[in-house]
Amino acid sequence: MRVLVLGGGGREHALVWKIAQSPLLTGLLALPGSDAIAAHAKCLAGDPCDIDTVLGVVEAHKIDLVVVGPEAPLVAGVSDALTGRGIAVFGPSKAAAQLESSKGYTKRICETADIPTGQAVQADTFDAALAALDRFSLPVVLKADGLAAGKGVVIAETRADAETAARDLLSAYGPPLLVEEFLVGDEISFFALSDGTNILPLASAEDHKAAYDGDRGPNTGGMGAFSPSALMTDALQADVMARIIRPTVAAMHAAGTPFKGVLYAGLMLTKDGPKLLEYNARFGDPECQILMLRMESDILPLLMAVAEGRLDDCTPPSWSSGAAATIVMAAKGYPGAYEKGAPITGLDRARAAGATIFEAGTKHTDGTVRAAGGRVLNVCATGQNRTDAVTAAYAGVAHIDWPGGFYRRDIGQRTYKTR
Ligand code: AMP
Ligand code: GLY
Repeated sequence: MRVLVLGGGGREHALVWKIAQSPLLTGLLALPGSDAIAAHAKCLAGDPCDIDTVLGVVEAHKIDLVVVGPEAPLVAGVSDALTGRGIAVFGPSKAAAQLESSKGYTKRICETADIPTGQAVQADTFDAALAALDRFSLPVVLKADGLAAGKGVVIAETRADAETAARDLLSAYGPPLLVEEFLVGDEISFFALSDGTNILPLASAEDHKAAYDGDRGPNTGGMGAFSPSALMTDALQADVMARIIRPTVAAMHAAGTPFKGVLYAGLMLTKDGPKLLEYNARFGDPECQILMLRMESDILPLLMAVAEGRLDDCTPPSWSSGAAATIVMAAKGYPGAYEKGAPITGLDRARAAGATIFEAGTKHTDGTVRAAGGRVLNVCATGQNRTDAVTAAYAGVAHIDWPGGFYRRDIGQRTYKTR
């Protein structure tokens, strides 16, 4: 099977690393990939959101399956264009990717299918937002409808802050705005594959979104993660599947926009049970890295089965019995402005010590690995349990010499409200 992976970050490095281990593989390409990905896949320059570019690569390289890593190509309609030409693609249509690209759309699906989630009111104007705010107690959550790179959600403690946030979000992202009930509980992530009809649960994870230790500082794409979640049990997974994932897939199917790909559910475990915070229509970054590390069976048959609507034929993947963790090493200044180009050494020593490193933002020049992004390295490890995995990942980090980088020292440590 000849496979093309779209994207070039740490998530795609992990996907390519995992797919490269498949005995079914006969060729692996990435658009655009990265210097690190080039160790496993032929990397081609070009924009993975440009439909003509993707179709051109698929034709020229006789690709059997396209695997979409990030959300942007999904929202650009790449999946629809491939499906329209009879090419197998792992990743939902533009319409189905609205589960990620429109929070209002997701709330409507939740309403139709009676999926537990925070109460929300959509507001198209500032006056409507004020009226909506009258209906909620404080704190209250305000959200931009569309993709906002982690900056579209404000938790307001006072009415004045809520009004400021409403004005700011409407002016930065335009209408509509969502005013949402504040949910109290513990946050976990859950991943499941769907081919539009059939569903295969994958695994749970928890991530650390704040930039600095103790959950302080600005929100980021994720500074570290571990899997499985400390709070996931068989009973909770059954509940999440029954009350959230299955009704979502059924509602999407009934709406004529079947979801084919990986559903990434952000969940709040409240005293009334799990509630949906948000959906993403792709693997999480850096959650994908640890899922790939934990998955022992071949991923390629699953990706192809999702694309071809044959997930009911598949056996569930096998997972390592323990846990996996990843520490994100980011450039100082991230998520704000940061420097690029500084050399990073010690990666081989970290690998020799047992870490698996996925590169999220590096360039390789004359044998030197250089920082080339905000989140730069994902230093990952497995272990018998979460503590062992986190300890092993930090042991890898200790070998890496990069004065321009920083990382959180408390990945894997959490205080839970619900236990
Ligand atoms: P979202 O992009 O919707 O996942 O929101 C980003 C983050 O804001 C989540 O990971 C939560 O930490 C927080 N958040 C979002 N919605 C709520 C809510 N209704 N109640 C409490 N926290 C929330
Ligand atoms: N780590 C969060 C995300 O991928 O959206």
